[in-house]
Amino acid sequence: MPDVPGSESTVLWERVGSVVERLFGLHLQGEKLPDLKRSLRGAASELGLSDVEACAQLLLSEKLDAVGVEILASHLTIGETYFFRDQEAFAALSTHVLPALIEERRRMDSRQLRIWSAACCTGEETYSIGILLRQLLPDIGSWQINLLGTDVNPRFLRKAAEGVYGQWSFRGTSPDFRARHFRQLAGGRYILSPAIRRIVRFAPLNLADEAALASMRDGGFDLILCRNVLMYFTPAQASKVVEALHGALREDGWLAVAPCEASQTLFAGFRAVHCDGAIFYQKGQVQYRRGVAPKDEGATEVTPAKTLPARVYATHEVSSGFPKPATPPSAPKRRPPLAKAKETVLSAEAIAARARTLADQRRMDEALVWCDRWIAAEKLDPTAHYLRGMILAETGNVPEAGAAFERSLYLAPDGVMAGLALANLERTRGREKHAARHYRNVLALLEQLPPDAYPEHAEGISVRQLTALVRDLMVVGDHA
Ligand SMILES: C[S@@+](CC[C@H](N)C(=O)[O-])C[C@H]1O[C@@H](n2cnc3c(N)ncnc32)[C@H](O)[C@@H]1O
Repeated sequence: MPDVPGSESTVLWERVGSVVERLFGLHLQGEKLPDLKRSLRGAASELGLSDVEACAQLLLSEKLDAVGVEILASHLTIGETYFFRDQEAFAALSTHVLPALIEERRRMDSRQLRIWSAACCTGEETYSIGILLRQLLPDIGSWQINLLGTDVNPRFLRKAAEGVYGQWSFRGTSPDFRARHFRQLAGGRYILSPAIRRIVRFAPLNLADEAALASMRDGGFDLILCRNVLMYFTPAQASKVVEALHGALREDGWLAVAPCEASQTLFAGFRAVHCDGAIFYQKGQVQYRRGVAPKDEGATEVTPAKTLPARVYATHEVSSGFPKPATPPSAPKRRPPLAKAKETVLSAEAIAARARTLADQRRMDEALVWCDRWIAAEKLDPTAHYLRGMILAETGNVPEAGAAFERSLYLAPDGVMAGLALANLERTRGREKHAARHYRNVLALLEQLPPDAYPEHAEGISVRQLTALVRDLMVVGDHA
């Protein structure tokens, strides 16, 4: 039943939303409340709590320990990423921004670069930069490269440090790319070459933690990527983060954000630089002024989760100028259940929520079990089949993933993301003709939608952006 405005339950959830906002910067109030509840439902069972209300009470009590914060972070964050996500931005990085930085260093007779991928998720973005650097620097061995990826979700970081990826991380790249930089493992997984892994380090950092952000404000970074995360923050939080990133960049340093995050107000302290269809923000002589005045200054204090970057860890030992790396944090010990979970018959909606949460956390085996339960309850739900396809693709089961996407499309022929997933999958199978047909169908579907609409399952990517992505993918196919 929907919460009635002003009711006790609504007030409770508004307070929970505020705590989440203060801990992680995430805006999960108002129309996003169902997402918050879905995430906390998943967290509750992992925390050993009886239900989502108990989880809400724990948050309000502010008695969360580090393990609790990790569990919460892993349920609240969205892990959508892939290699070279946003072709235009990476093309501009590779042809303009990075060559300009390298050239300048060479002129200064210096061989140092400091690059930070803030909110790096499972590492694809950070490694994409590593791959570009290796291409651009034939003498990379004689350079001191500090390439740091940080995220609030330690589970994502552990996966990043492993450098092992499934099919899903390769959408948007050609099969040739994978062959060049990865070695195939059993079960359709691929491991990134050690030459790239050894120049990248990962560390936990919560962008809502002011102390952690302050520790990065040394004005030494040449380039910061902070993409597809500001959009989940409140305007006040996004503004604080952008101000801190400004402080972390050296004079003339570059900031890359996602196209949908571009904003004259938020980046008022930077110079906007348009580069072959991509937009970057460059620190310059402009006096920094906050883009958006925080609305909630002076509100009740809740200390943000402390996930400081002191524990920097890397896939390999390298001398880099960062603090000495520790080994990636091992999975925290499971806490004993606080209360036995209720033995209830779950609704299809609850089963779906569990399947989605597990998939977001990349716990794919469990996600598949729950997804199959969902399909058993709702055989004709195209979303269930779509999620099943995503999970199977991620675990390398390409034929079954293809069948699941086809089922989803059969049930909902206008499913843009199912069509796109199928096209990408066909490409990874080397079936370029099939892929091209599906890309064309997706493009035709997109043309019927308003450019500013957000298709279902597109994770906040607009029709306009998807259209550009699909066109790029079709070009890759033409050159394959
Ligand atoms: C959609 S992914 C974006 C990944 C990558 N930057 C990209 O563009 O492909 C969003 C990431 O932001 C991270 N995130 C969310 N809240 C955060 C916070 N408060 N501090 C640091 N990272 C956060 C999530 O864990 C997730 O990995």
